Amino acid sequence: MKEQLANIKSEALAAFGAVDTPAALDELRVKYLGKKGELTAVLKQMGKLSAEERPAMGQLANEVRAALEEAIETSARKLEAAALEAKLKAEALDVTVPGRAPKQGHKHPMYRALDEIKDIFVGMGFTVLDGPEVELAELNFDRLNAEEGHPSRDWSDTFYFDEDSRVMLRSQTSPMQVRAMDTMPLPIRIIAPGRVYRKDEVDATHSPMFHQVEGMVIDKNVTMADLKGTLNLLAEELFGKGTITRFRPHHFPFTEPSCEMDVQCHKCGGAGCPTCKGEGWIELLGAGMIHPNVLRMASIDPEEWSGWAFGMGLERTAMRRFKIADLRLIFENDVRFLEQF
Ligand code: DAH
Repeated sequence: MKEQLANIKSEALAAFGAVDTPAALDELRVKYLGKKGELTAVLKQMGKLSAEERPAMGQLANEVRAALEEAIETSARKLEAAALEAKLKAEALDVTVPGRAPKQGHKHPMYRALDEIKDIFVGMGFTVLDGPEVELAELNFDRLNAEEGHPSRDWSDTFYFDEDSRVMLRSQTSPMQVRAMDTMPLPIRIIAPGRVYRKDEVDATHSPMFHQVEGMVIDKNVTMADLKGTLNLLAEELFGKGTITRFRPHHFPFTEPSCEMDVQCHKCGGAGCPTCKGEGWIELLGAGMIHPNVLRMASIDPEEWSGWAFGMGLERTAMRRFKIADLRLIFENDVRFLEQF
């Protein structure tokens, strides 16, 4: 038995010293010290010894067990230290490596154009208004002199929320004229930029959502000359001195007389090209003198007050401002495009 114990001891100590993972160490622990382990098996034979032999053998067995336990402990600590070292090495940071500069974004070109438009109008004493995109048909149509049956009210053109066609996504920023007339003291000078919605398929010049900037002035003795003067100034400030515009007669329910303003195409200088569809001109906005009915519905006396209004397409304006050829580029948000501004 003495010999057996000595063998177990030398064999186990060698094995514990050579072990290289915690799992393997645990396996060895079970192999020698577990319930069915080798040392345990020897101890179980103690009963067969004579009373004289037992104390000495018992002491020896205890010494062997203590030696094994200590060796396990030492091995475990060594493995732990090695694991920690490996982890530290793997996670080491080189603080001298140069940092990665964060990519900085910037304003979308359309919003840059809008900022310029706002600056120009604020400089002329206009207030900038913000209003709801979910609007009452009453404000989007009725109060703008587009009564029941007007083609723009059709379900095929407009996103309604209810069967009675009372609540809708605004199809123009013009209801902001009504909101201003209902809430602001006269005289009024406002612009109101924002999103508008129409049932259009996406193509090179259409999108079911786009942006407009509404503008309105109501004061005494306001004339069409003021309208033209202001819009020509806007065109020159935005697109550069000497920008050529033209005003064409048009029809809108809420203005009389009505017109549209074009600017000469930036691509071809008026000769005609794909960007202006061969026209030489790019239509920028609708405008006119506010219809007396619209003033009356807002309890403003058209004998005493007059006004003009306009609604411009913001995408088109940005395209003209930054010489962008296709409307879809504005919406696609391809960084290769956006990074150019
Ligand atoms: N709301 C018109 C449209 O969406 C544009 C417009 C025309 C606005 C004439 C006006 C205006 O304020 O006076 O086509």
